[in-house]
Amino acid sequence: METAIEVENLRKVYKEGRVEVVAVDSISLSIYKREVVGILGPSGSGKTTLLSMMGCILRPTGGNIRIHGEDVSNLSEHILPYIRRKYFGFIFQGFNLMPPLTALENVKLPLKFKGVPENDAEKESSHLLRRVGLNERVNFLPRDLSGGEKQRVAIARALAGDPPIILADEPTGNLDHKSGSHVVGLLRELVTTNNSCAIIVTHDSRIFHSLDRVFHIEDGRLKT
Ligand SMILES: Nc1ncnc2c1ncn2[C@@H]1O[C@H](COP(=O)(O)OP(=O)(O)OP(=O)(O)O)[C@@H](O)[C@H]1O
Ligand SMILES: [Mg+2]
Repeated sequence: METAIEVENLRKVYKEGRVEVVAVDSISLSIYKREVVGILGPSGSGKTTLLSMMGCILRPTGGNIRIHGEDVSNLSEHILPYIRRKYFGFIFQGFNLMPPLTALENVKLPLKFKGVPENDAEKESSHLLRRVGLNERVNFLPRDLSGGEKQRVAIARALAGDPPIILADEPTGNLDHKSGSHVVGLLRELVTTNNSCAIIVTHDSRIFHSLDRVFHIEDGRLKT
């Protein structure tokens, strides 16, 4: 099995004035290509912090991260946006859609950043929106979409450009059982065809059966 992400003794300490919060405490794990894995744990246990460090959004306090064998732990700040574009599709807790852009434009955005020609970007984005069941909402602004619909736009955007690693923070939180299973099914299908992987932070016990492995974290530590 080929390794997609390897994390070694990863640590994050937040400092707020004199208070130190150890959000992630010596976590080591490997995730392989073609896997769909879950990260599970109580609120405040460090799930988003761990995901953000794996996605090179947040710098670790200590430890190492290797992505496709490339050590990204000590790269300088200005390289990180490039690394993020190269490797990741993100689905954030709270979606982060651009309010003035339509659903279609939101999905097209990462493709534009990658330099995909307008026509191809348009085609791929409409296709993805159709796959998440939003073909009739392509020209809607985020404020006119329901919570579940916004979430599906965010999912389509994360899948645009076939990223090697999909990082998703509670991607099925606002979806009913049927749409939630559909989304995980879609991730599974893409991960297999693209030889990629997906890492999903979730509380949703209904999707557990479709995950290859689940990592449990508590107080910033991996439970074995
Ligand atoms: N920017 C920050 N500054 C200081 N402390 C932070 C910061 N972000 C998170 N924390 C703290 O780090 C701990 C882990 O937070 P994190 O957001 O990773 O938890 P989580 O498992 O994603 O929780 P939830 O399920 O509620 O989203 C929490 O105690 C939180 O208060
Ligand atoms: Mg979180």
